[in-house]
Amino acid sequence: MPPLLVAANLEAHYGWTKVLHGVSFAVEEGGITTILGANGAGKTTTLRAVSGMVKTAGEIRFAGHRIDGKATEDIVRLGIAHAPEGRGTFAHLTVEENLRLGAWGRKAKGELARDLERISGYFPVLGQRRRQLGGTLSGGEQQMLAVARALMLRPRLLLLDEPSLGLAPLVVREIFRIVRTINREEGVSVLLVEQNASMALQLADHAYLLETGRVVMSGPSEVLQRDDAIRRSYLGY
Ligand SMILES: Nc1ncnc2c1ncn2[C@@H]1O[C@H](COP(=O)(O)OP(=O)(O)O)[C@@H](O)[C@H]1O
Ligand SMILES: [Mg+2]
Repeated sequence: MPPLLVAANLEAHYGWTKVLHGVSFAVEEGGITTILGANGAGKTTTLRAVSGMVKTAGEIRFAGHRIDGKATEDIVRLGIAHAPEGRGTFAHLTVEENLRLGAWGRKAKGELARDLERISGYFPVLGQRRRQLGGTLSGGEQQMLAVARALMLRPRLLLLDEPSLGLAPLVVREIFRIVRTINREEGVSVLLVEQNASMALQLADHAYLLETGRVVMSGPSEVLQRDDAIRRSYLGY
């Protein structure tokens, strides 16, 4: 089976500055792939390229379609949902209103109530807090809301931008556990970008290491976990 997502030779600029220098990677159908890298490596730009939010050179194929150059809303409609960096919570809307916004643009509007129910099953705390304003949630709860909102689109591919940022290890573990459950139970493929290499390598089956806009290493997560250079520079032991 060909991969669900294939990106080849992505290049991106901000003004005159080139920040992606020919980045290539793939996400298998039903798999969890992670792109690891330090601050400024180009992780967010890579996800934004997939979502059509930055102009890129190179090729991106999703489920056989060329999606590079397409508008973000068309990419969303094909089944790619993006939980952005910074979480994007609407602070003055309730949890439930935030989730309903996630379903905007989806075809099957009639099944909204059932989806809210289903997602509360994965994130019970969001169900309990559904009338609470988004801005009053803890950082971990807001991250759960960002993932849950993306799931309201019933995506085939979920893009996660540094869900661990600023959260305690226990909270990160809980969120990653839920992502794994969703991946297994719903068959949603995941592309996770992370600075937290040790957590991300535990979750993902395949990993890429990005340094200043270039993939410098890639392979199965268990191989990267054992690599000496990765251990010294990214895992700290
Ligand atoms: N909107 C922007 N304008 C100019 N430069 C940017 C912008 N966003 C990111 N960059 C630069 O592009 C590079 C990659 O950034 P980014 O993709 O956000 O990295 P990461 O998510 O890995 O931290 C960095 O050098 C960053 O400073
Ligand atoms: Mg980033």
